[in-house]
Amino acid sequence: MIKEKIQNALNDQLNAEIYSAYLYLSMAAYFHSINLKGFANWMEVQYQEEMTHAMKFYNYLLQRGGRVILKAIESPPVEWESPLDAFKAVYAHEQKVTGLINNLVELALEEKDHATHIFLQWFVTEQVEEEESADEVVQRLLIIGDSKHGMFMLDRELGMRTFTPPADDSQ
Ligand code: FEO
Repeated sequence: MIKEKIQNALNDQLNAEIYSAYLYLSMAAYFHSINLKGFANWMEVQYQEEMTHAMKFYNYLLQRGGRVILKAIESPPVEWESPLDAFKAVYAHEQKVTGLINNLVELALEEKDHATHIFLQWFVTEQVEEEESADEVVQRLLIIGDSKHGMFMLDRELGMRTFTPPADDSQ
C-alpha cells in the first residue's frame, strides 16, 4: 500500500504530465497555423511522449494499490511570438518538470518509499534527454536566425521525428 502523501504527489505529477501533453499539442496547433508542419509533427510526437509519461504514473499508482485522482488540466497558451519563442518555452518547461521530478525523488527518500524511488529513476534519466532535445532545437534556431532556407531545412528534419513507445512500457 502506498502512503497518502506519496499518492497525492504522484497524482500531482500525473496532472503535470498531462498538462505537458496539452501544452505541446497547443504548440503543434500553433505550428500548423504558421505552416510549419515539421515543427508541428515534432510537437505531436512530444504530446504522445507526455501521455506515456502520464500513463506510467497512472499504472504505477494502480500497481501500488493507490487511487488515481484526475484533476482539472490548466489551459495552455495558444500563441507564441516565433518558433524560437515556442522552443525556448519548451526548454523552460522541461527544466521546471525536472525540478518537479527531483522534488518527488526527495519525497520518496524522506518517506523511505524505495519502490517509488526506483520507479522515479526512469524519469530522472528521461528529463536529461527532454532538456537536451529542447535545447538542441533552440540552439539550431539561434543559428538559423532569419534564414528562410534554414527554417525550411529544419522543418523538414523535425517532420521526420516518429513516436517510439518507451521500451519498459509495461509499467
Ligand atoms: Fe514528461 Fe517532457 O517530461
